[in-house]
Order: sequence, then C-alpha cells, then structure tokens
Amino acid sequence: MIKQKPSTKLLIDGGDPNETRRIRDLFGFVDGQTTNPSLVAKNPEIKQRIAASGKLSQDEEESEYKKIVQRISPLVGDAGVSIEVFSDLKTKAEEMASQGRNMFTWIPNAYIKYPCTHEGLRAASISVKERIRVNMTLCFSQEQAAAVYAATMGASEAVYVSPFIGRLDDIGVNGIELVKNINKMYERGDHHVHVLAASIRHTDHLLSSFALGAELATAPAKIFEEWAAQGYPLPDEKYVCKALDGKGKSLKPIEYKELNLDAPWERFELAHDLTTQGIKKFVADYESTLKRSA
Ligand code: E4P
Repeated sequence: MIKQKPSTKLLIDGGDPNETRRIRDLFGFVDGQTTNPSLVAKNPEIKQRIAASGKLSQDEEESEYKKIVQRISPLVGDAGVSIEVFSDLKTKAEEMASQGRNMFTWIPNAYIKYPCTHEGLRAASISVKERIRVNMTLCFSQEQAAAVYAATMGASEAVYVSPFIGRLDDIGVNGIELVKNINKMYERGDHHVHVLAASIRHTDHLLSSFALGAELATAPAKIFEEWAAQGYPLPDEKYVCKALDGKGKSLKPIEYKELNLDAPWERFELAHDLTTQGIKKFVADYESTLKRSA
C-alpha cells in the first residue's frame, strides 16, 4: 500500500480491468484509467474471443469496449475513465462528437478522448457545451495545448490535455519538457484544463511528472509495479529527468513559447507529424480486430 500519496493523480494506461484491479490491490486505490484503441485491441478477452470465433463486427467491437470500461469504471476514483472515439484522418467533428455523446452514457465517470487536430478540437468545443468531460489526446506541442485551452474555454466540466512524453523521446526530443512548458503556460490561465502526463515509458518519466507538478499521470501497470518495487519514491521539485535516449544520448530540449491563451483556437499551429502517425496507428490497431465488411 502507498503510505504517502503523490499530489499527482495516478491513472492506469491500459485496456484490461484485471490490471486495474491488480494495481488497486497494490496501492490501495487507483485514481483513474486511460484507454485507447491500441490498448483495447490488446485486451486478453478480446484476443481470446478473436482466436476462438474470428474478428469482430463494428457493433461487437463497440459492445466489447463498453463492457471493458464498465468493468473498470467502479474500480477507479474521481479521475475517471477516458474512452477514445474511433477517428481516422478524415473523420469530421460532428461524427466524433456523436460517438462521444454515446460513449459518455456508458459509465458515470467517462472522459471522452479526442485527438489534438482541428476536427478533434471542434468536437471538443461541441462536447464541452453539452457538459461532456473531454481528454485531448496525442498532444505533442505547446501550440496544441494552447488550442485545447482556447477551444474549451468556459467548460463547466473538467478538461484534460495529454502530452505524450515517450513518443517525443522516441524522436530524440525531451518529452518531459513539453509537460513543463504546458504547465508554465497554463499558470496564467483559469485552470480549466488539467495536464495529464501520458506515454510514460519508465519510472524516471513518472517521477519527473510528479516533480513538475503534473496534476495527473497515466502509466502502464508494469511501470507502477516498478515504482512500487522501488518503495514508492517521491521526488522533490528539484528532481531532474535523465533525458537520455536508448543509446544514452541527450534528448533535445523544447523551447518555451510565449503564446496568447485568449487567441481564437484556430490560429494555433495544430499540425504535428506524431499526431498524424498516432491516429494512423490507432486506426490500424482498431482495424486489426475488425471483420472485413463484404
Ligand atoms: C494515454 O492516454 C495514451 O493511451 C498513452 O499514454 C499512450 O502511450 P504510448 O505512447 O506508450 O502508446
């Protein structure tokens, strides 16, 4: 059991309720959960079902996803369960918002994940007006985070933005600095957007997120188990991420930008290669579970 809880809320990044239960037993609590199409495709029961009776229809896939989040929902605290809409690069905001409206009814503590794209932000601005909680995912730049802030201004429910640390590290850029820069930029704001550190690959990312004061962090169960095995260390604010790539080379720093959070959201530069690649990967993983339609 954790004796001293970090001030950062802890979320499990996964698609398997058994993992959530395992970490809840270990910690004594879990604040929330994030899911995505790749994680759902890896769910052991979905894999078994596909092995036994073939790929799923779209309706079956949706009903499996719903069952998974309904099993996770009562296991977690007030950071909720993030459910991702199925979108490719052509999906329009109205279609995403309509999926989000439906998914939001699945469980009482849902957050709807939309990508940090023009259409994803438009979907978020529709959803927040309907009091739907959103989690803006695949965030790779300070500009995207500024657009999230501006597009959801006036939201009466919580809004999350998920900077993806590990995927920036993968291209040689220090992902932790994106979290730091977004936190700094949001200090001047009204605090309606909460920073959820995501794509956490090792305990150094987790500890750095705590040290930077990220409000929430989502990590795979195995990272939390490693942190537990280390005795749940909590860093102070001077803790510095090692920021090295797999070969021990230093990661490139990200410069802080002065951005005006009151600007119309459409004016921010939203395009990012990693966001595009991330959407393509989610589509491929989702489709890997689907029957080909005749
Ligand atoms: C968060 O919501 C995402 O599901 C997740 O953190 C992605 O992590 P990855 O880059 O390891 O796939």
